[in-house]
Amino acid sequence: MIRLLLGNMNDEIAQAANTAEDIELMATVHNDFVLDSTRAYKPEMVLMAVNGESDIDIARQIIDESPEVSVLVITEDQSPILLKKLLRAGVKDSLEHSLSPLEVIASLRMVYERTEKQLRKTQSTILMDQLHHQSKTIVLVSAKGGVGKTTTAVNIGVIMANAGKRAVVVDMDFSFGDVNLRLGLPDSPRNIYTLMLEGDRYQEVYTSYLNKHDSGLYVLSAPLAVEEGEYVTAAFLQGLIRTLRKDFDYILIDTSPIMSDSFLTALEAADLILMLSVADIASVKNNRRMLGVLKALGYSLDKVKHVSVKKGTLSERLAMEVLESELYASIAFDGLAVGAAADLGIPVVTHNRMSKASRDFQKLGIKLLAEENRSTKAKLYPSMKIWNKRARRRV
Ligand SMILES: Nc1ncnc2c1ncn2[C@@H]1O[C@H](COP(=O)(O)OP(=O)(O)OP(=O)(O)O)[C@@H](O)[C@H]1O
Ligand SMILES: [Mg+2]
Repeated sequence: MIRLLLGNMNDEIAQAANTAEDIELMATVHNDFVLDSTRAYKPEMVLMAVNGESDIDIARQIIDESPEVSVLVITEDQSPILLKKLLRAGVKDSLEHSLSPLEVIASLRMVYERTEKQLRKTQSTILMDQLHHQSKTIVLVSAKGGVGKTTTAVNIGVIMANAGKRAVVVDMDFSFGDVNLRLGLPDSPRNIYTLMLEGDRYQEVYTSYLNKHDSGLYVLSAPLAVEEGEYVTAAFLQGLIRTLRKDFDYILIDTSPIMSDSFLTALEAADLILMLSVADIASVKNNRRMLGVLKALGYSLDKVKHVSVKKGTLSERLAMEVLESELYASIAFDGLAVGAAADLGIPVVTHNRMSKASRDFQKLGIKLLAEENRSTKAKLYPSMKIWNKRARRRV
């Protein structure tokens, strides 16, 4: 229903407005009373006749006082000078005097719909901004296993927590999730799968499902049994990430190289995808294939940033050429320091801060922290909808 107020309008137009099903005619008044009537009736639209400067003044006052009200005018004078003045006053549309009552009503509807659309757009932008407020979802991926995703996730997670950020690692390696192990935390029956079993209650209780590391980093553990991961639904994951966004600055999602529904759901929610490659041809070639599959599925690859772990003989330049991408960060392969830390269940950035790998993790962590918090997400295009479990495969 369009709440409409008319000023100095003829009977035919008032009649047409009165009988239109989608219009609630608040009042038909003399222009001198339009301002007061706007205050009293709070219409969404005001349609008034404009015959001179004083009428333009009234329109301007209404708009200044109630910018949410759309003011339209009907004038005999369609001179560019007058139209310019009306535009400056903030009038939404100036209708010709010669229009029939039905044409006037149709014009009202058009302006109303346009304004509504803009309002909805603004509201959804505000909502999205709130949703993404200070929150960034970073998904770590690689087509080949064992390249350093989990190591990178926990180390940058600790760096973020040390920087005072609220960070959580979601262990979405449903086959062999070992985020807890890397942080010296116990595996927990309270994990992503059992959280889902809480049903609608999960948002209220989810914090009690998080493991907390000394650094302040939180972990949402992978399920204890492999098959339980199969039951974690895309809808639950979407809701979960939305919930985490409200409470965390950084959500780091560790994945396995299986392109499952949950993997794709995480990518869909990602602000940033860190793709890890080691410097060998198999790793780079498989990542290239993964990029190809994602592209074919309709993903925008803008959010993919490439991290190279310097293990192997392939030069980073050649690796990036194969991937047709730019290098975002490189991490030294530091077997001794990282291995020793991993065995102790202590992230290397804590255990051996001066090691080469630690310094590179620091650099990457700082780079991510310094990144502008963009709210755009990896977009899912309609073709993605046809992705289903049958298409599940290892690339
Ligand atoms: N920068 C590094 N320097 C030395 N060793 C590393 C480095 N990053 C990872 N590693 C070691 O490589 C092995 C695999 O690392 P990690 O588990 O992080 O890889 P992943 O990609 O998560 O593997 P998966 O796909 O199996 O989950 C581990 O033993 C880890 O300690
Ligand atoms: Mg891993």
